[in-house]
Amino acid sequence: MKIDVITIFPKELDLALSYSIIKRARESGIVDINFVNPRDFTKDKHKTVDDKPYGGGSGMVLMPDPLYKAIKKVKRKSSYVVLLTPRGRVYNQKIAEELSTKKHIIFVCAHYEGYDERITEFVNDEISIGDFILTGGESACICVIDSIVRLVDGVIKDDSRKNESFNNFLLEYPQYTRPAIWKKMKVPDVLLSGNHKEIEKWRKEKSLEITKVRRPDLYKKYLMEVR
Ligand SMILES: C[S@@+](CC[C@H](N)C(=O)[O-])C[C@H]1O[C@@H](n2cnc3c(N)ncnc32)[C@H](O)[C@@H]1O
Repeated sequence: MKIDVITIFPKELDLALSYSIIKRARESGIVDINFVNPRDFTKDKHKTVDDKPYGGGSGMVLMPDPLYKAIKKVKRKSSYVVLLTPRGRVYNQKIAEELSTKKHIIFVCAHYEGYDERITEFVNDEISIGDFILTGGESACICVIDSIVRLVDGVIKDDSRKNESFNNFLLEYPQYTRPAIWKKMKVPDVLLSGNHKEIEKWRKEKSLEITKVRRPDLYKKYLMEVR
């Protein structure tokens, strides 16, 4: 998979995507992540990418031309262009799965007060990571890239992916590791029993129980679409 990120903070974003599983995925060549700075497509000596909003108001808005030229530089026929914006469809695991099948994604990160609306003519999708406002699209982009990359074949074990929260609309069961007793709290006996059938049963029960209490919205979907 190839990913290009349009951002005025390429170094910072590159660093944030250079540790743990994402780092290994990049080093092994499974995912190729590159950064394009809209400032490289400006002509003035200050490399200006933003200007005041028409109609007045606070803050600065990213101009359309440097963003457009940055997109154009890396766009191919098969590219899927995603703008990070609070006005986009709200991100979830299903969208992560959908995006993980794309060959080439271009993420567009805005900053300051946002972007000139006309740039939306050149994107295929608009994604919000939740109902809150971030300083820039960069942190949203990190979340989205992280969640997609771990779904790409060969990045993590199939088994880990299958048992994670949100598969089949369920939250994951509780996990424990050594020591078996810690601060007088004991790991559930069944997990120490070696009986895999019973362990499987306990985990499913816990997963259902937790989802029902914490995320009744997901539990309802599970009952309607999976069970
Ligand atoms: C400070 S925000 C601008 C918010 C905009 N003025 C508004 O009220 O919708 C700057 C940029 O951060 C990114 N951003 C902020 N919150 C986001 C979110 N929840 N999901 C995705 N991107 C977000 C977008 O690229 C946005 O244009």
